[in-house]
This record gives sequence, C-alpha cells and structure tokens, in this order.
Amino acid sequence: IVRGFSSSAVRNVVIKNVTIIGGGQMGAGIAQVAASTGHSVTLVDTSGDILKKSIKMIEGSLKRVTKKKFSDKPEAGEEFIKKVVQKVSTSTDAESAVQGSDLVVEAIVENLKIKQDLFSRLDKLAPPHTIFASNTSSLSICDIASSTNRQDRFGGLHFFNPVAMMKLVEVIGTPATSQDTLDSLLDFSKVLGKTPVSCKDTSGFIVNRLLVPCMMEAVRLYERGDASKEDIDIGMKLGAGYPMGPFELADYVGLDIVKAVIEAFKTKDPNNPLFDSSDLLNKLVAEGKLGIKTGEGFYKYK
Ligand code: 3HC
Repeated sequence: IVRGFSSSAVRNVVIKNVTIIGGGQMGAGIAQVAASTGHSVTLVDTSGDILKKSIKMIEGSLKRVTKKKFSDKPEAGEEFIKKVVQKVSTSTDAESAVQGSDLVVEAIVENLKIKQDLFSRLDKLAPPHTIFASNTSSLSICDIASSTNRQDRFGGLHFFNPVAMMKLVEVIGTPATSQDTLDSLLDFSKVLGKTPVSCKDTSGFIVNRLLVPCMMEAVRLYERGDASKEDIDIGMKLGAGYPMGPFELADYVGLDIVKAVIEAFKTKDPNNPLFDSSDLLNKLVAEGKLGIKTGEGFYKYK
C-alpha cells in the first residue's frame, strides 16, 4: 500500500481496508464478499439500528453460502461465519471511517446531490491514495466524482443483487480515471472472486442499460393487456433462460430502484421511448409497494 504520496506517485493501490458507505442490500452484500475474501471492512450507515440489520443480512446470507460449502463440516461453517463477521466493523461516522481506508465504496440512495455531498466531505479526510468508487445503478460516475479533487482515483464499481451469488462486477472509468485506479478496481474485483467487465461512463453501463428497459418493456406489454405478468415471467424464464422473469426480478431488485434507474436514464436521454415511465410502476411505488422488501410489488409475498 502506498501511503502519503501525491496523486501522481500513487501506483496500483493494493486494497486491504475497505469502507462501504450504505448498509442496505447492496452495501451489506459488498461488505460480506469483501470480508469473506480477507479484507478489513468498515460498514457505515446513519444509525446503529440500520447497521444491526445489515449484520443480520450478512449473517443470513453467509448461512446460505456455508450450508453448501461446509455441508459435511457444519462447525467449520459456523467458524467461517464468525471470522467473516469479525472482519466487519460498523460505524455511523463516515468521516473517521475513511481515514485508514484504501477503497471507499458508496452504496447509498440514488440521489446525485446526496452522493456528491458525501464524497466531497470524505475527499477532505481520506488519505491521498484512497480510491473512491460508487455502486450507482444509473447515475453518471463523472457527475458524482466532480464533487472531489481526486477524479483520477474515482471510478464505478457496480455489483449485482444478490452480491454473494452474482459473479459480475462492472468497473467504470470516466475520462479522468487513471489506468492505475482502473487496474486496482479490476484486481480488487478478481480478489473478491468476481469477473469484472469494463465499461465507459454511460447510462446503466452494460447490464442495467439492457436489463432495465427489458423490465419496462415487460411492464408496458402487461399494461397494454397483451399478456399476464405470470405468463411474461414464464416466457422469459423458459423462452430466454432468465433465472427470474422481469416482474419477479423487478420485485426482487425493488420497484423504487427500477423507477429511479429509468428516470435517471430519461434525464440523460429524454427522447428515447425505451426510457418512458409507466403509470403502473409509478402507482405501485407511490403506494409503497416496492417488491419483496415491503411484502408486495407486482406480486404479493408472505
Ligand atoms: N446469499 C447467499 N446465497 C444465496 C442468496 C443470498 N442472498 N440468494 C440465493 N442464494 C443461494 C441459495 O442459497 C441457493 O444455494 P444452493 O444452490 O447452495 O442451494 C442458490 O443461491 C440458488 O437459490 P434458490 O434455489 O433460492 O433460487 P434460484 O436458483 O432462483 O437462485 C438467484 C437465486 C441466484 C437470485 C437467481 O434467481 C438469479 O440469478 N436471479 C437473477 C438475479 C439478477 O438478475 N440480479 C441482477 C439484478 S440487477 C442489479 O442488481 C443491478 C442493480 O443496479 C439494479
């Protein structure tokens, strides 16, 4: 690890200490895989209660992972879970959490201003070598990075839900991101056991640019009355080999997230009809029916 050098001297930071800002599904998932692969992780959110839930999520997911991995040695599985959870410390103070950090991954609400404010504050306190990354689904990395003085050490690191299972990480560079930063993010993704792909800083990068319009097309097909949502889901599972149909996946990801993503795409490209909103989606979100996490979205959950 290179510490205390000016930005031009920073070379390929080896990432050991990771700070994750945001203890929701994505932040907790990223913390889990980072801790599982030997990193020291600090998970930050605004309250102790949220962080308690994050640790519960991590433990729940680790139980699923270890069930198969340690099927013949359940005690070794328990030991592994304990060790991983010990690698995750929690904090409600982002400013002090970033001070010993090689990498900061932000996974908070999809709001440009809030992300910019956060990074602008952290920029003043994080060591010079620290790389900043956003897990944004839909916002421009360049726009977020513009709030800092480390645009060469700023990139996108986009994970997929459930983080423990999904093998992909998108690594996004802006025109200002240095090759060393990109190399560090690509290396880090591989150390996590993921396969990284590279993409320019365009709306939705690779996967969401294709997946979210597909979900929106499914909603429109259903809104027109051309097919039931159940049949659309079966169609995409059995006809296109998707593990989940578009309505199941939207409920899984969260309808608020799907709505935020398509709105962000629309802001950048208002004339593209693929990014049109949907009355049904907007209505469900307004009613607080956000999918699995609230017990109801397109479908109802127990
Ligand atoms: N943590 C740990 N393990 C988990 C898990 C989790 N959160 N969720 C599922 N698993 C494990 C299960 O324990 C099971 O393990 P086993 O094979 O050892 O029994 C295995 O995954 C399969 O799970 P299930 O049998 O319950 O169900 P599925 O076979 O349907 O798999 C799935 C679940 C992996 C979630 C699969 O349905 C899937 O791949 N779905 C699509 C997910 C997807 O597309 N994600 C991307 C969304 S877009 C996104 O995240 C970007 C964002 O910016 C919006």
